Amino acid sequence: MNTSPKLTRVTSIEIDRFDGAVGAEIVGLDLSRPIDDETVGAVRRALLDSGGLLVFRAQFITPEQHIAFSRRFGPLMIHVLHQYLLPGYPEILRVSNVIENGQPIGLGDAGKHWHSDLSYTPEPSLGSLLHALELPNEGGDTSFANMAAAYDLLPPDIKERLKGKRAVHSYSHSYDRLSGSKWRPPLTQEQKDAIPEVVHPVVRTHPENGQKTLFVNEGFTSRILDTSEAESRELLQFLFSHSTKPCFVYRHHWQSHDLVFWDNRCTIHLAHGCPPHLRRHMHRTTVKGDTPY
Ligand code: SIN
Repeated sequence: MNTSPKLTRVTSIEIDRFDGAVGAEIVGLDLSRPIDDETVGAVRRALLDSGGLLVFRAQFITPEQHIAFSRRFGPLMIHVLHQYLLPGYPEILRVSNVIENGQPIGLGDAGKHWHSDLSYTPEPSLGSLLHALELPNEGGDTSFANMAAAYDLLPPDIKERLKGKRAVHSYSHSYDRLSGSKWRPPLTQEQKDAIPEVVHPVVRTHPENGQKTLFVNEGFTSRILDTSEAESRELLQFLFSHSTKPCFVYRHHWQSHDLVFWDNRCTIHLAHGCPPHLRRHMHRTTVKGDTPY
């Protein structure tokens, strides 16, 4: 019998909440098999209850199974860097530092700044599902920060200053800073046209649980509107450093064939990188969300 107070049984799965700011492990679910609606509902609730991060260990799944499970949470988004999509499976972005025939096959420096996936789109992502296929034996961790907790613990005067504020999110804001890396050739005009800047509230409401979450990130948020340039910079700097304080962060050390599902509406994440001579190869799907309010 389970005696751990953290462990609960829902349908046929167990949810083991981590001690830290965000995250839980789902035990007893094989994602290579069809998942019934009740279990999908339980996973959804667990995602909310965990603060926005679920770990499924040892998932030996095909790209079709990865896509099928991801689709249970909504339509999938196609990344603008088409050269890094898995051939035959445009719903999968290869997050990989592997070079084949002298060419990168995936985005090897994805996630180098704290960010929420695709926050630069009009209807940013609900969540992402990243599957670890090949891992380095050193480094390669990913950290996640709980943006609802970060909002809650903002000083009252900052909360007051953020009321009604909106911010610009831009893909090139991050891309240009990393340009020159072998994974980032200049964006084509077609790619730029596909991802114009967008504006979102600085504090959004989570559409499923009504929680307020901070919705700015170092990767893609370039400017807070209706403030001076200096005030925008100062506020963003404060928010970026506040939201990534250790008390809000869980650092994931990947195990082979982990699948990690995070909620982009209430978390941000950072890839720590690994020594360049070691291979790290992952597949990511990205579930579409809705317009932030
Ligand atoms: C990402 O930002 O989606 C990639 C995270 C990682 O590679 O750890």
